[in-house]
Amino acid sequence: MVSLARLVNARTFFEFGTYLGIQTLNIAMNVPSLVNIYTLDLDYESFKNVKQHKPDHIVSLKHFEYERRLAFLGSPFENMIQRLYSDSNEFDFSDFEGEIDIVYVDGGHDLGTLRSDTENAFKMLRPDSLSCIAWHDYGNPNYPDLTQYLDDLSIEYDIYHVEETWAAFYLQKGEDIDFK
Ligand SMILES: C[S@@+](CC[C@H](N)C(=O)[O-])C[C@H]1O[C@@H](n2cnc3c(N)ncnc32)[C@H](O)[C@@H]1O
Repeated sequence: MVSLARLVNARTFFEFGTYLGIQTLNIAMNVPSLVNIYTLDLDYESFKNVKQHKPDHIVSLKHFEYERRLAFLGSPFENMIQRLYSDSNEFDFSDFEGEIDIVYVDGGHDLGTLRSDTENAFKMLRPDSLSCIAWHDYGNPNYPDLTQYLDDLSIEYDIYHVEETWAAFYLQKGEDIDFK
């Protein structure tokens, strides 16, 4: 994630799925170009209504257990990190459209949420410079639908799997970039 964020010279990062805030802190600490980091997770009300895979439900419970002890809270990077609270299926992304240099899709893993998060990720990418979407859990045996979904999406988009990891990514060339 750090390499990808550095590659696109990211100023803005959007994460689906805060969980314990460890990846959020990792990115904040190691990508000096970053100015704004947004990280979205369920609030307790939406958690009560959301339909989830069983493994996702357990992960969400842990997120709530650690909500006041997230890795970046109290760190020197806390001010650049904005927490967003919603079911991502219900969230209004209009403020973020065309504004994000790198999006990390690592929230709900059921197919409906994955599809919605991915579609919103594409809309959020900045159109005029190199930008990136990264997905976690490609190849994770707990989430076969996710792997199939990205395989299908890779017919239309160049999506790369990082060998021996569960990471996959897509790089979007900005409209104004000339790689000659
Ligand atoms: C795998 S964890 C994220 C891990 C984190 N990105 C990291 O790298 O450390 C998935 C998180 O997504 C959240 N989540 C699951 N379904 C969601 C939804 N529909 N909307 C928003 N967040 C969701 C869960 O509560 C959980 O904290």
